[in-house]
Amino acid sequence: MDASNWIAILDFGSQVTQLIARRIREGNIYCEILRFDIDPDELKKRNPKGIILSGGPCSVNETNSPHCSNKIFDLGIPILGICYGLQLTAQKFNSNVKTGKKHEYGKALMRITKDSLLFKNISNPSKVWMSHGDKVTKIPEGFELIAESDNCPIAAIQNTKLNIYGVQFHPEVVHTPEGKKILMNFALNICKCVEDWEMSKFVESSIKSIKEYVKEEHVILGLSGGVDSSVVAAILHKAIGNQLHCVYVDNGLMRLNETDEIKELFGNAFGIDLHIIDAGNLFLNKLNGVSDPEKKRKIIGSTFIDVFSKKARELSKSVSFLAQGTLYPDVIESISPIGGPSATIKSHHNVGGLPEDLKFKLIEPLRELFKDEVRLVGKELNLPDYVVNRQPFPGPGLAVRIIGDITSERIHILQKADLIVREEILDMSNHLDVWQYFAVLLPIRSVGVMGDDRTYDNVITVRAVESLDGMTADWFKLPYDVMDKISNRIINEVRGVNRVCYDISSKPPSTIEWE
Ligand code: XMP
Repeated sequence: MDASNWIAILDFGSQVTQLIARRIREGNIYCEILRFDIDPDELKKRNPKGIILSGGPCSVNETNSPHCSNKIFDLGIPILGICYGLQLTAQKFNSNVKTGKKHEYGKALMRITKDSLLFKNISNPSKVWMSHGDKVTKIPEGFELIAESDNCPIAAIQNTKLNIYGVQFHPEVVHTPEGKKILMNFALNICKCVEDWEMSKFVESSIKSIKEYVKEEHVILGLSGGVDSSVVAAILHKAIGNQLHCVYVDNGLMRLNETDEIKELFGNAFGIDLHIIDAGNLFLNKLNGVSDPEKKRKIIGSTFIDVFSKKARELSKSVSFLAQGTLYPDVIESISPIGGPSATIKSHHNVGGLPEDLKFKLIEPLRELFKDEVRLVGKELNLPDYVVNRQPFPGPGLAVRIIGDITSERIHILQKADLIVREEILDMSNHLDVWQYFAVLLPIRSVGVMGDDRTYDNVITVRAVESLDGMTADWFKLPYDVMDKISNRIINEVRGVNRVCYDISSKPPSTIEWE
């Protein structure tokens, strides 16, 4: 891969900046999100083929609004300003940006008024998505109008001499159906990028750099069985073989058969040095009598650290690296000047760090990748589909799906009900459209009849949602026959359950998990 074949995206705080990066990566071009105030000389050194200025929540006229260095516009690198990015461009080239009378939010029809490389093969008119308060009211010096809409006479501009373009709408969101094509026009026709970002090449170059970085040393990885840690395990194993040591902590709150599956796949099929620690009783004892969700999370987080650290300390004589499944969105959040919308949501998910005395060097092979790219890497590394497409599973496991007290009997009931929910949904041809699905055990009993007997038993709630990233979610409209089968099977096959409900709430205001 040519190191200069990439696009830099300067982040001015838009909630959808990540989508710009995802669209461009989907088009097989590497890109990175950088702080808006990056030093232009540093950027020049890294030599991107193009720069995108993202949208943002501020007004360019506010005193403290984020501005990039004016020198960015003098680097001679093609620029595309999106929304706030367009307004910054306009301000730099002596135009006016005014706060519009009303905020324009929603679909609009863009009419292309002049041929432009940016709109090559784009329909005219074309549907676009607008979301802005401010408007550019005068065509900036040296620029020409290339598109307009009813509410936004200056919808897109270009300066072909300087190779600077700007659009008021958001090409990165799905509501702009030809948006990805527009971004690709910028990357391919204007920046002259080539489409060389492929996961097979990523795997190849990543293996090479892991080998160079780790050399003869050894690496420890906490393997949970989730997509990220599984892919980290597979890529590290391919790079350094038996210098990798995986530690899997069985907290007794995993899904049914999960520990056996992990043992079979990573221990036996891959032949990884896998240490399975059976800590179910320890976790259960510590959780005894605890029903407060936050307390459950804290206990599980700290017990995990204790158990993992103990093993790490044992191995630390020979191990010097700790591997982590950090992904690109986490990296962006930590560099984001404004703090993405996901920042607060993530905080309660982290289990915290290892004790001070355990000093490992970090290795994070996936830190450049988005989740969908991680799945592709997993496929490249021959991980089975059921691992690569695994739905998210919370760190505290089934503990946050057993409302109230956690006992081994209640864990067992939930594990069996959960397996039925998974089996039936996986049987649907469109199961990949369901983002997450599981059973929840409620802390109440309800009356039922079974044969001639009256029962007073547990209630299971089924939760299935569609979502893009867990930030917002809609309850999934499961077909009635699937719901029927799930309910019948749970009531017939899981002893101690006589009622099944379906959760029809969306996030917000509900959350995906019940605790
Ligand atoms: P909520 O319930 O906040 O969940 O709508 C959003 C996503 O996060 C997962 N989740 C967790 N993941 N530790 C985790 O690792 C946690 O404590 C935790 N709580 C929720 C949840 O499964 C969903 O995918």
